[in-house]
Formats: sequence, structure tokens, C-alpha cells
Amino acid sequence: EEGRRRQRLLDLNRDAARFYYQLLQQPEGEAVREYLSRRQIRKATAVKFGMGASSDAWDVLLTAMTKKGYTKSELLESGLVVQNKNGGLYDKFRNRLMLPVVDTRGNVVAFGSRVLDKSEPKYMNSSETPVYSKRRVLYGLNLAKKTKRPNMILCEGNLDIVTLHQAGFDNAVASMGTALTVEQTRLLARFTKELVLCYDNDNAGKIATERALQILDQSEFSVKVLQLPRRLVDGESVKQDADDFIKFQGPDAFERLLSGSENGVEFRMAQVAGKYDLTSDEARVAYCEEISQLLSSLPNAVEREIYTARAAEAARISPEAMTLEVRQAFKRRA
Ligand code: GTP
Ligand code: MN
Ligand code: MN
Ligand code: MN
Ligand code: MN
Repeated sequence: EEGRRRQRLLDLNRDAARFYYQLLQQPEGEAVREYLSRRQIRKATAVKFGMGASSDAWDVLLTAMTKKGYTKSELLESGLVVQNKNGGLYDKFRNRLMLPVVDTRGNVVAFGSRVLDKSEPKYMNSSETPVYSKRRVLYGLNLAKKTKRPNMILCEGNLDIVTLHQAGFDNAVASMGTALTVEQTRLLARFTKELVLCYDNDNAGKIATERALQILDQSEFSVKVLQLPRRLVDGESVKQDADDFIKFQGPDAFERLLSGSENGVEFRMAQVAGKYDLTSDEARVAYCEEISQLLSSLPNAVEREIYTARAAEAARISPEAMTLEVRQAFKRRA
């Protein structure tokens, strides 16, 4: 019975995906088609991701799915239809680019969606349902699991994934804006041993990278961090994500960043170094204190020695002094 209910929800999601897909091809889909072309998303890419359009009207999905035999309670349980306080039903997603979320077995388990203008919320996703737990799903993994590349690239956004796949990086997946979860890392472990974190190069992205590194510290993955450069617009430095970068710099430049991506320790060391102006003596002392905390947390002795030497060089002190600092930090820890 439980299994049958889940299957009905999956069927409903699949039928809704078909409905949105067909709507995108119709005159009503014109605004979304224009949006896709503005974002330089090609037709073949849209098809590959099963993209669709939701209508401006309040009840077209409701009507179509009711006609197909889905009950009111099934529609509400899917989250695709919601109820107002007077009990009236209406479509949750309206006038949006629809992005089906497909699990690794090929089931449509949920939808992401984006507005076509600057209104809020920019993205709206399906609510959690018996077939959708957002901490267990990665956008694009249904496609990326077939990659021949040796690793997987982890981004923040749905459209980063779309652009990366279109540019030949068919190993990209996204956690859809939320922090990476342990469940997602277990899922990834079935397909790859190496992860490349490629979050937005704003403050939120840096924090997300640090949190992901913490989760991955307890895993077997080899982890790299791809740091996107900021972009200069009229002399001002602005943030960039993978989608922006590919658009402005092209796939070859991204390939170069990918092969030059640093490991997690290098990323963390750069974050610490960025906080200090190492031309002042006070800053050098403070830097050595903070960096020795970080270095003392490395479980591997060889790794500890290599990066201790590097930190000493950055602070312009002897490797012996730095090693001593690290040892003291290590003892405080134990
Ligand atoms: P674009 O403007 O389309 O390029 O979006 P983006 O992917 O660059 O968006 P951003 O970096 O702001 O957010 C990254 C991801 O977080 C998105 O792809 C969404 O999955 C998620 N996200 C962003 N804004 C919202 C929001 O308002 N609501 C929800 N639920 N998720 C969001
Ligand atoms: Mn945002
Ligand atoms: Mn962001
Ligand atoms: Mn973006
Ligand atoms: Mn972004």
C-alpha cells in the first residue's frame, strides 16, 4: 500500500513533467523559450534536462492532472497543487522555467523552478514529499553518473549544472542551494572518488565550501576546490558562479581552472592568509597562531610537514619555529 502510494506520486510527477515540457513547446511557452535563449541554453540542452514551462494561469496543471485521474489528496501530497485558506486548490508553480529533479533511477521526484524576471522568490522547489527528501538528492546526478571524467564537480545552482553540461562538463551536480549533506556524499561515493567543490565566489559560497570540506573530512573522497576568479565590471569586482564564468571566459578557461584546482588544505590556508596583512609583525604573529591551529588538525604527518613549510615561507619565519608552533597547537588539541 505504502509502495503503491509512492508509485502514484512518482507517476504524477512524471505526468506533470510531461505537461510542463509540452507547454514549453506551445505558444504559451514563449516567455520561457525567450528566457532560455537569453541564458544561452540551447534547445538540445533543455530537452536533455527535461525542462518545461508552467503557465500564468492558476489551475491548468490541476485540471490536466485531475483529468488523468489523480485525486485531490494525491495532488496535495505531491506539493504541485496547494490549497488556499478557503479550501480552493491552485497550481504551486506559475509562469516559471520548470526544472525536473530526477533521481539516479530516472524517477522525477521533484521540481526546481525559476522566475523569468527579478521577482522573488527567484527559485521555488517542490516541498518534501514521501518521494522527495532534498538532503538525499543532487540535481544533475542522473546525467552525471554516466560521465567518463574522473571526478564530479559540485556547484550551488541548477543553472550552473545546465551550463556546465552544455559546455562539456557532464560531471557537474548541484545541491540546489542547500548545504552539502552526509546523505549526498554517500550517494556521490557510488559514482566517484574525487570531488571538486565549485561554489559561488561570494562570501556565502566560501562559507558553503568550508562547511562542505568539514563534512568531507570524514569521508574517503579526494577533495579539490575550484576557485572562480571575481570579474571586473566597470572597474568593480563582482561575484561569479560557474554559469557566469563559462559565459564570459568559455569552457577552455574553465578546464584550466579545473586542472589547477587546489586541495582543501590549500583553500583553507588561503582563507587564513587572506585575513592578515603579512607585512606587519603583529599580523605575522597572529597568522602563525591561527595557521598552526589549522596545520595541527591535519591527521597526516607528511602533509603537516609540507604545509608547515609553506606557511613558514608565507610568514617569513624559519620552518623550525613554525614546526614548534604547530606541535604546541597539536598538544593543546590532544
Ligand atoms: P541564477 O540567477 O538563475 O543564475 O541563479 P543562481 O543559481 O546563480 O542562484 P544563487 O547563486 O543565488 O543560488 C544558488 C541556488 O540556490 C539556486 O540554483 C537555487 O537552487 C537555490 N536558491 C537561490 N535562490 C533561492 C530562493 O529564493 N529559494 C530557494 N528555495 N532556493 C533558492
Ligand atoms: Mn540567492
Ligand atoms: Mn550564490
Ligand atoms: Mn547564476
Ligand atoms: Mn549563483
